[in-house]
Amino acid sequence: MPRLVRLLLEAIDDMSSTIFPLQGRQVFVAGHRGMVGSAITRRLLNEGFTDVVTRTHDELPLDDSTAVEAFFAGEQPEYVVLAAAKVGGIVANATHGADFIRENLKIQTNVIDAAYRYGVRKLLFLGSSCIYPRDAEQPIAENALLTGPLEETNLPYAIAKIAGKTMCDAYRRQYGFDAFTVMPSNVYGVGDNFDPENSHVVAGMMRRFHDAKVAGDSRVVVWGTGSPLRELIDADDLADACVFLLRRCDDGGMINVGSGEEISIRDLALLMKSIVGFQGRVEFDSTRPDGTPRKIMDNTAIRTLGWRPALSIDAGLRKMYAWFLKSDTLRLN
Ligand SMILES: NC(=O)c1ccc[n+]([C@@H]2O[C@H](COP(=O)([O-])OP(=O)(O)OC[C@H]3O[C@@H](n4cnc5c(N)ncnc54)[C@H](OP(=O)(O)O)[C@@H]3O)[C@@H](O)[C@H]2O)c1
Repeated sequence: MPRLVRLLLEAIDDMSSTIFPLQGRQVFVAGHRGMVGSAITRRLLNEGFTDVVTRTHDELPLDDSTAVEAFFAGEQPEYVVLAAAKVGGIVANATHGADFIRENLKIQTNVIDAAYRYGVRKLLFLGSSCIYPRDAEQPIAENALLTGPLEETNLPYAIAKIAGKTMCDAYRRQYGFDAFTVMPSNVYGVGDNFDPENSHVVAGMMRRFHDAKVAGDSRVVVWGTGSPLRELIDADDLADACVFLLRRCDDGGMINVGSGEEISIRDLALLMKSIVGFQGRVEFDSTRPDGTPRKIMDNTAIRTLGWRPALSIDAGLRKMYAWFLKSDTLRLN
């Protein structure tokens, strides 16, 4: 084959296996009012997507198969981001395990199956790092899934997520449906949930430091020794990665998306104190459990594809606190 023809064919092959345009395509973002879904929707709109379809929980209860069927039959979206889920913190998971497994299994099953049957070209399912084995080797690589026992505290939620990921794989294998799973590390950012029962580590800490500042308290007590290390990713960075992955033609399976930046709970608390402007002391209650000593994802696969996060933890937390202050003012007025 002449060299020029070979080079041209290689270039075409290269283009088709990497990036393709999404603009002009209809994208359904399920869960667009949540932290992750709203960040993905913002990202798509900022990039000039005009056909982003959304429905609130009330308009389209995704656990209702009849409603989901009618939606897909009517809208026939080309791309789907499944960022809707019943999500909660340790307390909610411990007390409402039945709701977590039932709701999430229903949402996933309805949406993934309807998306396949109505000819969706690509579906992105949001998994979670909590579905990896409790004692997985760090950094956690994608192939660690199902290699050991899971953390007990959120087992129903994790099992539902594993089922969703497995469903994507099985539909891809049996039907050739391009469904893939994104596994984010701990997400924080604009749109986070500050409810004491349902918040994750960053939002919960921000709320406590803020409330202590407003109340003029002399100290904030943080559970544990402060030594555990956590990898955090800003929701807008995660959204950027999701749109990056949606644009790729190669059918994935599952891919980790983390910032690659670790921070100890102690440093996070001190950073939070400074960003919030709390003047009192930070104390660590070492009689309380620490949880997993270290949790970081192996981000080799997504880095190899060429994606990098844009925000440092400091910049992300400042952005989040500015938004928190604005939304708190709105809430109080
Ligand atoms: N936050 C994290 O740290 C994190 C980490 C890793 C993975 N993820 C994954 O990312 C996804 C989104 O998480 P998030 O933090 O953005 O959660 P979120 O803020 O709680 O948002 C979830 C969204 O789903 C909607 N929803 C829940 N049940 C629904 C139903 N039956 N029908 C229709 N809509 C429903 C909620 O609407 P309502 O509020 O109106 O119910 C909400 O808008 C989840 O799959 C989660 O597992 C999150």
